[in-house]
Amino acid sequence: MDNSFDLARIRALPFLAGLEYCREIDSTNNRALERAKQPHLPCPWLVLTDRQTKGRGRGTNQWWSGAGSLTFSLVLECRGKRLLSQAECRISLVAALSVCETVQDLLPHALVQLKWPNDVFFQGKKLCGILVEADSSRGGRFVVGIGVNVNNSLRAAPVELSAIAISLTEVAEQSIDRTDVLLRILTHFSENLTHCESNSLALADRWRSLCMLHGRTLCVEAGKQRTIGVCQGIDDEGALLLQTEAGISRCLSGMVVQIY
Ligand code: BTN
Repeated sequence: MDNSFDLARIRALPFLAGLEYCREIDSTNNRALERAKQPHLPCPWLVLTDRQTKGRGRGTNQWWSGAGSLTFSLVLECRGKRLLSQAECRISLVAALSVCETVQDLLPHALVQLKWPNDVFFQGKKLCGILVEADSSRGGRFVVGIGVNVNNSLRAAPVELSAIAISLTEVAEQSIDRTDVLLRILTHFSENLTHCESNSLALADRWRSLCMLHGRTLCVEAGKQRTIGVCQGIDDEGALLLQTEAGISRCLSGMVVQIY
């Protein structure tokens, strides 16, 4: 299958205000953060690449993008008060949910789940990572970077990754059209973002039902604070709920650093 992007179809998506395509780039999030500083940038602005050479993950993590993977970033302008409070967490969940729904469209019987707040897992292995960053120069602009293992074989990945990650092509046993995956993700994302702005409880029910951490004992690290407890799911605001010895703790930011 021709693995190149159909840019005309992507440009025609009503949700997008602009598209920038690069054959190769270090990180689409880096480019999107540069663009976010431009006052008149039309948003949502999509930065798409065929090949990312220095992808970044959360914290000091890197994101390995083998040939055939899907890597892109959106510059969003968020005005709604609701979205602006704890925006990174909520936008991450909206993005993760949209990737889950895309995988469910393509592979209806597949067990796809989200790992709060920014990962998508498929049959217990990581399929997608999401990195949401705020533009520090102006309030309300966010970059949401999404990397999905689509046509990249994890057999070509560093050994420490091949055991814990998976790609859509390996599951489907056929090549997948990256344009189709991208358009589905963006379409779900635009709908879910609207629902998030309007405080939809149905949206919260959907991210709850896909939470892979429910019932597991976890450690969440946010800055210098570590919270250990049994996961009680995700609440309507997008916070991870942990049952600790001192009661229920709501985590609205941070990273799951350990699952016991
Ligand atoms: C993580 O798993 O920690 C998040 C990974 C995010 C990777 C995506 S790929 C597109 C965008 N550009 C980057 O440099 N990172 C994100």
